[in-house]
Amino acid sequence: MKLNIALLAGDGIGPEVIAQAVKVCDAVATKYNHNINWTPALTGACAIDAVGDPYPEETHQICLNADAVLFGAIGHPKYDNDPSAKVRPEQGLLKMRQKLGLFANVRPTFTFPSLIDNSPLKRERIEGTDLIFLRELTGGIYFGEKGRKDGGETAFDTCTYTRAEVIRLAKKGFELAMTRSKKLCCVDKANVLETSRLWRETVQDMAKDYPEVTVSYEFVDAVAMRLVQWPNSYDVLITENLFGDILTDEASVISGSMGLMPSASVGDKTSLYEPIHGSYPQATGKDIANPLATILSAAMMFEDAFGLKEEAEAIRNVVNKSLEQGIVTEDLSGKNKAYKTSEVGDWLVTNL
Ligand code: IPM
Ligand code: MN
Repeated sequence: MKLNIALLAGDGIGPEVIAQAVKVCDAVATKYNHNINWTPALTGACAIDAVGDPYPEETHQICLNADAVLFGAIGHPKYDNDPSAKVRPEQGLLKMRQKLGLFANVRPTFTFPSLIDNSPLKRERIEGTDLIFLRELTGGIYFGEKGRKDGGETAFDTCTYTRAEVIRLAKKGFELAMTRSKKLCCVDKANVLETSRLWRETVQDMAKDYPEVTVSYEFVDAVAMRLVQWPNSYDVLITENLFGDILTDEASVISGSMGLMPSASVGDKTSLYEPIHGSYPQATGKDIANPLATILSAAMMFEDAFGLKEEAEAIRNVVNKSLEQGIVTEDLSGKNKAYKTSEVGDWLVTNL
C-alpha cells in the first residue's frame, strides 16, 4: 500500500520524537511491504521564523493532499511571556484544527502493566484503566467571540455551541462506546452553563437511538475528582473543548508519564496524529524526550487512517517490549539506566 503522510515536526522536541516515529514507521513499512511517502511541512514557531505564519497555506495544502498527518509539537518559550506577540505558534495549531475540520480529538488513557508503579496514583486505583476522551476541538470558548472593552480594562471570551456541533461529536462517542463496553459519560457543567444544557439535552435525545449504551451525565468538577479517584470506572467520555483540554492533561498522568499518551484528531478531511505532550522546550536538542507517545500515535494512524491493524499491533507490541525491558528515557527510568530518545528509536527498529 502507498501511504502519503504529511510530516509536521514543529518545535521544541517535536523534530526529535518525530525522527524516531519515522524510523519506526519506515521499518514497519519495509516489514509489511508498504511504501511511505513523507512530505515535511512547516508549522509553529519555526514557521513563524521562516515565513511569518504558524500554519502557512503551503503546509495546509500538503495536509489536505495527504492521507494522514503526523505531528510533533508546537510552542516556543519566547512567546509564552509576551502577551503582546501578534502571532503565536499556538495559533497555528488552532488554525490547522479549524481549516482541516478536526472537530474530534481522541485521547486515550491506558496503563502499561510494567509501569503501574510509575504512576503517582496507587496501583489498586488505576489497574485496568482504559478510557478514551472525545474532546470537541473546533468550537466552544477557544473559537468564540473574544476581545477587550472599556479601554482594555474588561476582557471577554465567549463559549458558543450549536446543536449540530454537539451531535457530530456525540455521534462519534456513541459509536465508539458501541465498539467498547457500551458506557458513555457526558461531561458538562449543566448546573450553570447554557451551552452545557444544550449538550446534555442533545445527548439525551440521541441516547434513544443507542438503547444499548448506558449514558451517565456528570459535572466537570466532579469528573476532575473522580478521574484520579477511580479512573478505571470510566470508559468513553465526551466533552467540550476547554473541559477536554484540562481533563485530558489530568488523565495523562495516570499512566505514569505524559510522554506515553498518543492522540488523534479527526473530522471532515485529513486526520492528524500527535503525542499529547507539548514542545518541552527545556529538553530541546538534548535527545532525552520520550518518543513513545509519538510512536504510539503513529500506531493509531496505521490502524485508523489506513486500516492496517496488524502493523499497529506490531508497533504496540514492540513498545510494550521496550517498556518491559527498561529501554526507556529518563522520565521512566527511575534509578536504572536512562536511554536517549534516539537509542529508544533504534532499539524499537531492531526489535520490530
Ligand atoms: C492541546 C494544547 C493546545 C490546546 C494549545 C497548545 C493551544 O494544550 O492540544 O491540548 O489548548 O488545545
Ligand atoms: Mn492541552
